[in-house]
Parts: sequence; C-alpha cells; structure tokens
Amino acid sequence: MAFIIFLLTVVCALGLSSHSLREFYRFPNGTWVENIAVRPNGNILVALVNTPELWEIIPSAPSDCNPAQLVYHFDGADSVNGITELSPDTYAVIASNSVWKVDLSVYEKASEPIRIATLPAGTLNGMATLDDERVSVAISDSQLGLVWRLNTHTGNYTVIHQDMTMEPNDDLGLMLGINGLRIANSYMYYDNSPRQIFCRVLIDESTGEALGPYEIITHDVLADDFAVTSDGVAYLAGLTNNVVIKVFPNGSHEVIAGSRDSTDLMTATSAAFGKPVNGQNILYVTTGGESEHPVNTTDTRGGKVMALTIDLEGWIGRFEGAGY
Ligand SMILES: *[C@@H]1O[C@H](CO)[C@@H](O)[C@H](O)[C@H]1NC(C)=O
Ligand SMILES: *[C@@H]1O[C@H](CO)[C@@H](O)[C@H](O)[C@H]1NC(C)=O
Ligand SMILES: *[C@@H]1O[C@H](CO)[C@@H](O)[C@H](O)[C@H]1NC(C)=O
Ligand SMILES: *[C@@H]1O[C@H](CO)[C@@H](O)[C@H](O)[C@H]1NC(C)=O
Repeated sequence: MAFIIFLLTVVCALGLSSHSLREFYRFPNGTWVENIAVRPNGNILVALVNTPELWEIIPSAPSDCNPAQLVYHFDGADSVNGITELSPDTYAVIASNSVWKVDLSVYEKASEPIRIATLPAGTLNGMATLDDERVSVAISDSQLGLVWRLNTHTGNYTVIHQDMTMEPNDDLGLMLGINGLRIANSYMYYDNSPRQIFCRVLIDESTGEALGPYEIITHDVLADDFAVTSDGVAYLAGLTNNVVIKVFPNGSHEVIAGSRDSTDLMTATSAAFGKPVNGQNILYVTTGGESEHPVNTTDTRGGKVMALTIDLEGWIGRFEGAGY
C-alpha cells in the first residue's frame, strides 16, 4: 500500500456564492474520476478508473497542504467504481468485479480493506446500501443489464432485478445499460446511459426486491451516476453533455450547471451531496477529465471534483441526521 502525494497546485479555499460552480480538486492529466461518496466528517472519497485507486479529499485541509491522499490501491483490479456506506464510516467499494469493505471508522489508521466477494458479473458499476441493518448492497451490472444483491457479511449474492429498462446496448461504444443506482424513500432509482432514461422501482428496503413496476421517470437524459434526495429530486451527472441535470419526480428536468461547450463539467460522472458549508448545500460532481472532444479545447487535463451550491427542497439527508 503506497501513499502518493501529488505535487499539485490546489485551490483549497474559495468563497461560495449562491448556486456557484467551482473547481474543488483536480487530479493530474490522465485521471478519470468515476464515483464519489461523502464521509460523515465531510471528507470526500473518490474512485478512479484509470488506476484502481480510492482517494480521499479533505475540504478542511489548510491551503498550503495537498488535500488529496490515497486511501488504497486495489492490486490486481483494473478500476474502482461504486462506493456506498455500510455502518457509519465503513464502505463497500467496487474494484473491478470484486466488492471490498473499507473501514475508515477507526480514527488513527484505516485497517486494510477486506475483499467481500468476487461476482460472476459483467461490469459492476453503481451501488447502494439496503436496509437490512445496512448489511446488504444492491449493485448495478452495466454489461449484463441487471442488479445484484450482495450480503457483505456472508459474501452471498443473487440477482434481484432484471428488466428491459436496464438492458444494455453499444450506442455509446461499449456494452452498457443500467449505470447509476441509488436508494431513497423506498425506491431504487437508476439510469440507463445509452437509452437516456432515468427510472425507479418501489422496493422492499430490506431485500431490495421489487414491490411495484419499473417506471421510466423521464427520457432524454444522458447520464452516469447521480444523487437523489429523499423527496426523489435527482441530480444527474450528464456525461459528455458536460452538465448536471435536475430531475423532478414528475419527470420534468432542467440543466442546472455546465454546458456542452464548457469544460467545467466535462464528462460528468457522478454526484453526491456534501456537508453543508455556511448553511449552503453542496453537490459535489466528479468528472472524467478534459480532452479535445466534444469541447474544442487544445488542452487535455485530468478529472476533477467540482462543487455546486444548490437549493435542496425538503431534503432530509445524512447531515441532518435522518435517512442515513
Ligand atoms: C449462502 O449461500 C449458500 C449457497 O447458496 C447457502 O447454503 C447459505 O445458507 C447462504 N448463507 C446465508 C447466510 O444465507
Ligand atoms: C413538475 O414538478 C416541478 C417541481 O414541483 C414543477 O415546477 C413543474 O411545473 C412540474 N411539471 C409538470 C409538467 O407538472
Ligand atoms: C469544434 O470545432 C468544430 C470544427 O471547427 C466545430 O464544427 C464545432 O462546432 C466546434 N464545437 C464547439 C463546441 O465549439
Ligand atoms: C495531457 O496528456 C495528453 C496525452 O498524453 C497530452 O496530449 C497533453 O498535452 C497533456 N496535457 C497537459 C496539460 O499536460
């Protein structure tokens, strides 16, 4: 396990104005940031795809310190993807088609991650924790177009969802179907990137199994992972459209940040609610990095974490003590 400190110039402290979008942290050229989770202390965990690593970014780091540090390099894996919290500050993390337990709850030193299971999966991608005392997780399989349930104590797994809304195709270049997956208010929310749909299904919160139909909330949303409030308002990372899309439960949706022509949110990959700062709610958005396409920039730069201030209507989130 190697700790690497990148020598980067990092903007640590910037003022926040209403609905502002700012660069929070940028990784070096070639880094693709794929997923994100926020710790109870407000620190940010991000998963990288170009190298199988989990990193932590510390918002409160002094401005003369590098706020990013390597948490773990998953030897033998190609990439790291979904992250979800089990018991407080203990996480399930996807590294290739294995799921690991990463315990950050010990103050002084994180213990070595433990591999829970390796699944006979296509591509494990998004992941959310179920309510059976937060032992099991639901995991999207983008290549097979289904959802697994994994018991993180026993390592047992089974397929719990398979529906046409999850099916893959190769419209985006690789076999990809269901992508982001989150659970809120008894619904499992998910999107399907090539089909550009955002969906939900009522579930039994303990087993994760369907209690209702698979519903398409809206079409026409190209998206990767997303964050969703307990009221079912979702913030989707808009991939190569370089945007964040807000989707209401009735399906109406709007771009609230970024644009096709801007590198600010270029290849937006995931989103998570941060710990409020000065009374403002923050949505952290990860990106895969900047290249010549589709924005005409001559520069190629690494993936980053952007911070977007947002208004949360009726949100009951982890930092308010509920829904957690
Ligand atoms: C795990 O799966 C195995 C094989 O299906 C089964 O025999 C065992 O009872 C399961 N364990 C639990 C705790 O469910
Ligand atoms: C959908 O809900 C939003 C938020 O409540 C509202 O502003 C919008 O008018 C609704 N759209 C439709 C078509 O009902
Ligand atoms: C990028 O450049 C191409 C060729 O000059 C042009 O057709 C396209 O509109 C440009 N795209 C943007 C987003 O500026
Ligand atoms: C990043 O890497 C690409 C590919 O190696 C290179 O073309 C580009 O100039 C690099 N950009 C910077 C800012 O170093």
